[in-house]
Amino acid sequence: MLFNDKRAQLAEELSAISPWGTTGEGCRTFFTTGGAESNDDAVRMTRALTGRSKILTAYRSYHGSTGGAIFLTGDNRRWSGEQVGGGHSIARFFAPYPYRSPFSASTPEEETARAIEHLERILLHEDPRRVAALLIEPAVGANGMIVYPDDYLPALRELTEKHGILLVFDEVMTGFGRTGAAFGATRYGVVPDLITFAKGVTSAYIPLGGVMVRENLAKSFDASPLPCGHTYAGHPMGVAAGLATVRAYREEGLLERAREIETWIRDGLMAISERHPTVGEARGVGAFWGLELVQDKKTREPLVPWHGAGLGVMTTLYAELRKRGVQTLGKYNVVFVTPPLTITKPELDEGLAALDESLGVLESQL
Ligand SMILES: Cc1ncc(COP(=O)(O)O)c(C=O)c1O
Repeated sequence: MLFNDKRAQLAEELSAISPWGTTGEGCRTFFTTGGAESNDDAVRMTRALTGRSKILTAYRSYHGSTGGAIFLTGDNRRWSGEQVGGGHSIARFFAPYPYRSPFSASTPEEETARAIEHLERILLHEDPRRVAALLIEPAVGANGMIVYPDDYLPALRELTEKHGILLVFDEVMTGFGRTGAAFGATRYGVVPDLITFAKGVTSAYIPLGGVMVRENLAKSFDASPLPCGHTYAGHPMGVAAGLATVRAYREEGLLERAREIETWIRDGLMAISERHPTVGEARGVGAFWGLELVQDKKTREPLVPWHGAGLGVMTTLYAELRKRGVQTLGKYNVVFVTPPLTITKPELDEGLAALDESLGVLESQL
């Protein structure tokens, strides 16, 4: 189990499609069995690489549920873990959320400028020389399918570089074609220092995750041991499934296919949002979309409260969708529209029609 050729081959495939592949730098991958472990390991690596301890993460984020990753997480799943935790040097910030701007901004450019100013202020009080890494989802998944303004991730790259802070993209959701490119990093043209991944690497059929580390940093682990390890990390079955999946993505053009799916979803969801009084905003990138449901389009009051006690009327929506053969996820007042990368236009239209009808049933009960 210590060595196997499939693991090396998968690491090579990942390096080739990584944001460092096109520049010739490449990357090395440390394999794990899931997303949370990958984030835990990425944190440990950045601390070892920088000799610094603090990690910055966003409030609207999910990074996993291990003892470490739950503290990186911004959402309410962290709260119950806090009683037993402690001593974790994690500082949190607000990232852009144009529909409900935490910065009272009225344009995407203003949202980015104010978000960066806010982060600079946090850095000043946390001491940037103590910050090892900033960990962020390039587009927010579980916490509401939030897409950042185009200039936000480049501005984050610039700010982290200025302070010698490593930039880590959690691509557990956005990786492997979900945004219409191999990684969110590629889609947004931003080069991070590390990428964590899981799910899509095997199309989620077999547990596998990992941390991709750019070569210029990874080589320092030749001299000092990597402070991570798991019995099943890089298990032959996991990496064989990963290798077959990544090759299929590449050979079948699936890494870019979500660009086409994006145009179909955008048109479909925009039409739905015009028809339905409960749809506050349809937003997304690639095949990674969400509908934010509201009580009133003008006031934007959420249909069910964020961090409220339950799903309330949203359960009607999911039940109606299931009746029509559509399974999806959501969180509070945001329902996810994240079809498979192999979906055809007629299949997507069938799903969107089910969504349209199910919203109608939900609205008839309000
Ligand atoms: C962005 C993100 N990071 C990390 C994780 C945690 O991954 P896992 O559940 O494989 O530990 C998830 C899981 O949904 C996720 O969406």
